[in-house]
Amino acid sequence: MEKIKVKVCQGTTCYVMGGDVVKSILDTLTEKYADKVEIVSVRCFETCHKQDSFSKAPFVYIDDEVVSSASVEKVINAIESKLSDE
Ligand code: FES
Repeated sequence: MEKIKVKVCQGTTCYVMGGDVVKSILDTLTEKYADKVEIVSVRCFETCHKQDSFSKAPFVYIDDEVVSSASVEKVINAIESKLSDE
């Protein structure tokens, strides 16, 4: 099974809006998902540049699906949902 790729934006806007916290907490959970999920930091997706998107940072992509106003809970729920679909 191909791993789900979780891309946590570490661009300035997302970082300031809490993306660093999301990444730090997700890193502590990697053991649980190690064989199913790959969590990586990426630079700005430019999603924050879209109109009315600035306040929805931080952004996390789970494969091609964007999670806005990303919190650890929202990201974990999205991961669990995707895993249950597979
Ligand atoms: S800084 Fe995260 S999408 Fe731009």
